[in-house]
This record gives sequence, C-alpha cells and structure tokens, in this order.
Amino acid sequence: MSKRILGRDLEVSSIGLGCMGMSHAYGRPSDKTEAKNLLAKAVDLGYTMFDTAEVYGTAENPHHNETLLGEILKPYRNQIKIATKGGLHFDENSTVVNKNLVPDSRPEVLKKSVEDSLQRLQMNHLDLYYIHRVDPTIPIEETAGVMKELIDQGKITHWGISEATEEIIRRAHKVCPLTAVQNRYSMMYRNYESLFPVLKELQIGFVAFSPLANGFLTCRYDEYSTFEKSTDYRSIMPQFSSAGIVENQKLIEWLKIIAAEKNATPAQISLAWMLAKNPFLVPIPGTRNLKRLTENIQAESIHLSVEEVTEIDDMLEHIPMSQVFGGSIVKK
Ligand SMILES: NC(=O)c1ccc[n+]([C@@H]2O[C@H](COP(=O)([O-])OP(=O)(O)OC[C@H]3O[C@@H](n4cnc5c(N)ncnc54)[C@H](OP(=O)(O)O)[C@@H]3O)[C@@H](O)[C@H]2O)c1
Repeated sequence: MSKRILGRDLEVSSIGLGCMGMSHAYGRPSDKTEAKNLLAKAVDLGYTMFDTAEVYGTAENPHHNETLLGEILKPYRNQIKIATKGGLHFDENSTVVNKNLVPDSRPEVLKKSVEDSLQRLQMNHLDLYYIHRVDPTIPIEETAGVMKELIDQGKITHWGISEATEEIIRRAHKVCPLTAVQNRYSMMYRNYESLFPVLKELQIGFVAFSPLANGFLTCRYDEYSTFEKSTDYRSIMPQFSSAGIVENQKLIEWLKIIAAEKNATPAQISLAWMLAKNPFLVPIPGTRNLKRLTENIQAESIHLSVEEVTEIDDMLEHIPMSQVFGGSIVKK
C-alpha cells in the first residue's frame, strides 16, 4: 500500500478507512465480531488511517465507534493512525433521522472531549484531532490556541478541521499549523476543489469524506433499494430517492463504461480519479464488507492519465445528475 503525507509529516496509507458506518448513519451498528474481522483485515491489507468521531454512535451507545476502535485496534496501535473528531453534538430534540448538528468549541468542552476520546480509544495521544464543525460563536484563533496547547501537552500530535472554508483555514493555520482539512468530496460534490491550491500553498492535506457520494457512485443501487427510515440517512438522501435514481441514470451508465474500460469497478474509478487529481488528498471510503474493503484499497493501483482525468472532469461538468446529500443542518 502506498503512502501519502498529510501536512508536514503525518504519513498514512493513500486510502484510509471511514469507520462511521460501523456505528452510525447506515443502519444497524456492527457487532464486535463483524467489526473485529473487518478492522483486522483492513490492517492486514495495509490501511493505516482509521477515521472516527466522538459522535459516531447510537441512541443507546453514543460513542460506540470510538469504543469499538479503541478495543479492536489496540494490538495494532504502533502500525496505524487513528483520526477522531470533537466539538460537536446532535440536537436531541430534532425529529429527523439525520439530527441537526450543534457545534461547540468552548475550550473546556474541547479539552474534555480530547480526554474522553483518549480513554475510549485507549491511546496516550491522538494522531489527528479534527474540529468536527466550526463553532460560529468562538473565534477560530481561540480554537487553534486550544489545539496548540493540547499539542504542547502531547495529548494530540496533529489537528485539522472538518468542513472548513479558505478563510477559516488561513486564520487557524496562522495560530497553529493544520495537518488536514476533512471535507465532503466526490464526483457528485466538487465544491471544495477551489481549496486545493490554498492547501498546497499552506502544506495542508485534504481528507475526502463520503468519497463515493455515500455509496451511490458504486452503481449498486436502483429504484428497488430500500433503507431503514429510523437509522439510515440514505432514506432521506436526494441521490437515493426515486427521482434521484432517474436523474442519475446517465451518470451511472457512463461510470460503468469507464470502469469496464479500465478493468475496474465504478467505486475504484471514483477513488482513482481523486487520488490522481491531488497528491495531498486521502479518501476515506467507508465499508463494512470485507470484499469491498479489498476492492477500495486496490483503487490505488489504477492509473488515470492527466488526459483521462481532464476528460472525466469535463464530463462531470456536463452530465446530468441529481442533488447529492450535503450534510445535516448545522444549528447554533
Ligand atoms: N467529517 C464529517 O463530517 C464526515 C461526514 C461523513 C462521513 N465522514 C467520514 O467519511 C467516511 C466515509 O464516508 P461515508 O461512509 O459517508 O460515505 P462513502 O464512503 O462515500 O460511502 C460509504 C457507503 O458505500 C458503500 N461502499 C463502500 N465501498 C463500496 C464498494 N466498493 N462497492 C459498493 N459499495 C461500497 C458502503 O456500504 P457497505 O458497508 O455495505 O460496503 C457504505 O454504505 C465515514 O466513514 C466517516 O469516517 C466524515
């Protein structure tokens, strides 16, 4: 498995593993045996970047994901990096499946969140700690100052921000250098490509979350796909709706053709395309399936030339596609 460097010195596998779906947003959570098999296989295959967050859990067990990873990944601790996130909770009064998000970057909240994550992950330092959503009521300079303090204390070694804009990145980076920005990015959601030159200039990595448009770009869903309404966010995502499936037919057919031409799968084409576009980008596709875990990591060996990437970009500008899920509402 080839490696990439995020920021100045955080070396990780070119493709990381998004672990959210084992506990949150995609139906019932994984049990321990299922998660153990998957995570052990991931380490074996060469994944060295595991992505979690303190809020990835269930109503009964709100920190299910961190606890699971802490227990299962402990034996592999010196081979891997675990990234987690804090400074966010769900609005428990919200009645939709994807509850509204409430950012909270008060210094005392972040410091407690780091202590709690350290405990649950059974680590003596966090490899990469993201502010999960920027808190509009706290200046980002103050948050960066807290991160600097935590780095000086050795509790975290690198920090990042999720869903960050250029302005926030520049202001934060001046106070304490950022290692990575983790934003939504896929063939259906390219809004953050404008950040690539900024991140290159500042030497900050880009971690692409939901790189398969929540699985849609794997081309394995159709109008008969159903999702559990109380636990699965896909039940409200526009790309999976009946209208979305119809609007995306051309996109899906085209992706299948490119995949066949490259002797690859559509998921692999999505991942290879973003790897080719930016050498500081690391996608973190999520899967709970052993076969797909292997399929996704093998995307790193699919080569797309500059011309092929340009052709794909051009096509993405013009091909009809539906709206894509843009994230839960952030309310403060
Ligand atoms: N920072 C943030 O705010 C934020 C938000 C969302 C997600 N994330 C992170 O990003 C990670 C990935 O995002 P995501 O899980 O939302 O979306 P994603 O990676 O785009 O898609 C995941 C879905 O695709 C399916 N899948 C994966 N590989 C496949 C393949 N090769 N063929 C067919 N289906 C495949 C998975 O189903 P199976 O399990 O059945 O394979 C899963 O349902 C998360 O795990 C989380 O760590 C961060």
